[in-house]
Amino acid sequence: MAIAIDSPAEVRAWSDAARASSERIAIVPTMGALHQGHLELIASAVGRADRVIVSVFVNPLQFGEGADFEHYPRPLDDDLRACDDAGVDVVYVPTVAAMYPDGFSTTVNVAGLSELMEGASRPGHFDGVTTVVTKLFAATRPDVAVFGQKDFQQLAIVRRLVRDLDLGVDIIGHPIVREHDGLALSSRNRRLSAPERAAATCIPVAISAALEYAASAGSTVDGVISAARAAVTSQPLAALDYVEVFDSSTLCPLRQIDEHQRRPGAVRIAIAVRVGSIRLIDNADLFDAFE
Ligand code: PAJ
Repeated sequence: MAIAIDSPAEVRAWSDAARASSERIAIVPTMGALHQGHLELIASAVGRADRVIVSVFVNPLQFGEGADFEHYPRPLDDDLRACDDAGVDVVYVPTVAAMYPDGFSTTVNVAGLSELMEGASRPGHFDGVTTVVTKLFAATRPDVAVFGQKDFQQLAIVRRLVRDLDLGVDIIGHPIVREHDGLALSSRNRRLSAPERAAATCIPVAISAALEYAASAGSTVDGVISAARAAVTSQPLAALDYVEVFDSSTLCPLRQIDEHQRRPGAVRIAIAVRVGSIRLIDNADLFDAFE
């Protein structure tokens, strides 16, 4: 049976006890509304540690003004059941008041990486993410933490955070889990109407078109971006926020792709699209097969 813990002090006591018994601890940070993507991260964590903590916390710090914080789905009973079935030991569900008590005034900022792409579209977003992830790591002191490549920029920022602050947490990046039509699973998908859900397919279609174009001889970054853009603009219910081709390690936007970069792992494409009022993101390796 997974136990639910709602205070930082209690989860720290629990993980201190586990560590005292030489148990290896893994954490999977989430905002809940768990889907198959989260469950794969959890399965990976279960395979890597003796004890697994899943945090479920809709973090107000990472939502902008008027963003979807209020509307973010919170099916807590379903989440607890899913964690139980997945072999999770602790579901850490802190309240906002416990995480951010009156007078809370500390921010963790990973400069540079946090300002690109998602950071440019959602100012302050990654400060919210890095602050809460630091708090989650401080309270649980895990050996390993599993994050999804679905949020590729977030994963890169968390890796930098851990390196820069000597947090000593092994960060695992898990591949993107997709629906049958290629749409990346997301807690936000459940807020799409049926026509919006159909329209959202333009995102994996855009990525496939970009990868296909990139594979052709003489392809340019502009051409790759145009191929992706065309798939989104042909869909009336969808509006493109950004599409970017970037270096996988530095996250810096690329103006051109050199010959030596035409290999798996070197270059990625990221896309953010608004479908109705829902903002969805996706990304892929530009020179790898798109599942
Ligand atoms: P959330 O959106 O709930 O995602 C939790 C974790 O699940 C993230 O690491 C995310 O990349 C991963 N994930 C989501 N959908 C996925 C998919 N389709 N395939 C693979 N992995 C997927 O990301 C957050 O929460 C928050 O920013 C958090 C890190 C918890 C900090 O508040």
